[in-house]
Amino acid sequence: MSRIRVLSVFGTRPEAVKMAPVVRALGQHPEFDPLVCVTAQHREMLDQVLTLFDIKPDFDLNLMKPDQNLAGLTADILTALDPVIARARPDWLLVQGDTTTVMAAALLGYYHRVRVGHVEAGLRTGNKWQPFPEEINRRIAGAAADLHLAPTEHSRQNLLREGVPDWRIRVTGNPVVDALLEITRRAAPEETRSLLNRLGIAPGKKRLVLVTAHRRENFGRPLEDICAALRSLAAAYAGSIEMVYPVHLNPHVQEPVYRLLDGVEGITLLPPQEYLNLVHLMRSAALVLTDSGGIQEEATALRIPTLVLRRVTERPEGVEAGVLKLVGTDPARIVGEARRLLDDPAAARRMAEAANPFGDGQAAGRILDAILSFREPADPSGGGLL
Ligand code: UD1
Repeated sequence: MSRIRVLSVFGTRPEAVKMAPVVRALGQHPEFDPLVCVTAQHREMLDQVLTLFDIKPDFDLNLMKPDQNLAGLTADILTALDPVIARARPDWLLVQGDTTTVMAAALLGYYHRVRVGHVEAGLRTGNKWQPFPEEINRRIAGAAADLHLAPTEHSRQNLLREGVPDWRIRVTGNPVVDALLEITRRAAPEETRSLLNRLGIAPGKKRLVLVTAHRRENFGRPLEDICAALRSLAAAYAGSIEMVYPVHLNPHVQEPVYRLLDGVEGITLLPPQEYLNLVHLMRSAALVLTDSGGIQEEATALRIPTLVLRRVTERPEGVEAGVLKLVGTDPARIVGEARRLLDDPAAARRMAEAANPFGDGQAAGRILDAILSFREPADPSGGGLL
């Protein structure tokens, strides 16, 4: 029997983290013939993850340009990925999440009549501007998908409500948990341990607050508001907390963050951290402030109380579990909620008690099973787009 050829396509750091366990499982399974194509929508940040998980792409489109815009990037991906799919002739195309790479690759899979599997399917805020442009990206990927690999029952329900037939959906858990379990087994890197030492972070000394913020809908005023909140917290907790903020390379993030926070006592700005370092920073944190998607899942899995700097989330499971709290970008609200948790360790502990709703570390295996057992029913029922 010929093996099933699966072309995995990804472009950014978080997609690479979440696809790494799937790519590895495909490579170890006798029934699959796996290929990897990176669009390299991100360059340095992607390459760090490829090295960490020892992934050697078969195709590297190397598309990142300085300060790329969405239309240009989309056009470049469509043009460059099209001949790769024609040449590779895969049985399946696998994409993960909601970036420009995912949206464009899923559409191309459809054009080539290749079956599309969408990992992390069914996340929705219901607001097309939040997050921008990811809410529409994942809907487009979903419209083209043959198989929706939903991380949770909640995401499955979102898809059913949109009319996706049940037989097209499998609940697998999120492979971010698989990746995280592997990474937390590795020792904390020397670089991170000496950073924590240098900043005086230790029980009874200073507490660590880890910050990340890079979302497009927060560019401009909201990101400046977040910076203002960080400055107030730094002043209020001088000497007792240290805020560490690895700053995303997007120039719309770099410029305001360095302008407003560089040199402020109690705030340490860092270049983007390798995934291994970031996970170990997260584990050492008393509190996380973030507008990222993946960090909401990782912090939930590690049970670190997290304030989400967004108005809505597509990951309500983490809010229900109590680990995440949505606070938006109003400085007074961020400062108030952060103070409540920093001043009341019992409240912080209560946030961190729940079980992990995002998976058990076995998502990659379930994703492979779902592909192997996928059959189009002779008489598909269930309505929706067949
Ligand atoms: C993208 C995703 C977002 C995801 C984020 C994770 C889209 C629309 N957005 O946003 O969903 O949460 O990645 O990081 O796909 N840059 C570098 N080096 C890098 C990476 C980025 O210099 O390694 C700079 C470049 O100037 C690039 C810019 O960041 O032009 C923006 O990158 P882009 O992929 O367009 O958007 P992100 O903000 O990274």
